[in-house]
Amino acid sequence: MSEKKYNVAVAGATGNVGTQMITCLEERNFPVKSIKFLASKRSVGRKLSFKGDSFPVEELTKESFQDIDIALFSAGGGTSEKFAPFAAKAGCIVIDNSSAWRMDPEVPLVVPEANPHAVAGYKNKGIIANPNCSTIQMIVALNPIYRKWGIKRIVVSTYQAVSGSGKKAIDELFDQTRAKINSLECESKVYPHPIAFNCLPHIDVFLENGYTKEEMKMVNETRKILEDDNIAITATTVRVPVFISHSESINVETGESVLADEVKSLLEKAPGVKLVDDPEKNLYPLAIDAAGQDLTLVGRIRQDESIQNAINMWVVADNIRKGAATNAVQIAEILIKEYL
Ligand code: A2P
Repeated sequence: MSEKKYNVAVAGATGNVGTQMITCLEERNFPVKSIKFLASKRSVGRKLSFKGDSFPVEELTKESFQDIDIALFSAGGGTSEKFAPFAAKAGCIVIDNSSAWRMDPEVPLVVPEANPHAVAGYKNKGIIANPNCSTIQMIVALNPIYRKWGIKRIVVSTYQAVSGSGKKAIDELFDQTRAKINSLECESKVYPHPIAFNCLPHIDVFLENGYTKEEMKMVNETRKILEDDNIAITATTVRVPVFISHSESINVETGESVLADEVKSLLEKAPGVKLVDDPEKNLYPLAIDAAGQDLTLVGRIRQDESIQNAINMWVVADNIRKGAATNAVQIAEILIKEYL
């Protein structure tokens, strides 16, 4: 019997994440019957390739989704908010990488290693949300700990790559670095301050409580994915001059007593995790090692000696792959395997 194949659309196909979504569909041999590339009017006339063939980029409109089975969206929150309902109405299932639908109680928010069962909720609105990049890698590392020992509190600080802000941000870091080295003036367009040779404790907009939206995404999305509103979570998110991969310092207080060695043994076998933890050999997770692959690297696992039942760790993943495109394609894989 031949494998069932699907008509797939990528909305935001010309963008940073969209391009990686196309690569992930190719690499993972997703059963594609037809592919459609959608972007803004600006990109009409461009061509993108899929498995050796070239396809025109079409303008994303309300009518783009007739006969499409699955649409991967990464074209910004406003675009998702506007167009995902039309896609769903046309019978297409949307997997959306923006923050537009994540906290909608009727829309599942899925990290395949943690809550694959939630995919079933696609039936509510025809939309599944891909979590925030920083949340995804934290969940991959913490879900096994949560299942085994429970989690009371998480304190996380992030060191996030500029690729999370799209193509323009990658150019900005590159141009500013070159300008600074040559003692030239450099402009800041994407960020409010220079990002080259700098760290900005400011990702997304500031909210009334003094936190940024990115920080509150980590709090609210983690609770939704783990289905536990009792976990205390506090986050500080920082943009750093790195092109690819987010790094995170995580302090996790467990419900039961736990030793660092037990956490290492558990994470060594955990899905989606690669333990990189041999300090004597200077081995620990690095952004440049995480880039270009799909595992979440975890290391520097050690006891928090300041309180009982807490562990510190360093968690790194490619924010464009596992933090966005790969996670979305993994969700699509669950969808076709279990539900379509
Ligand atoms: P375009 O290239 O035509 O502007 P990134 O996050 O790397 O900046 O990419 C954003 C993606 O979202 C791009 O593919 C971009 O298309 C697409 N996009 C942005 N705004 C719209 C819109 N209003 N309609 C359709 N696609 C959009």
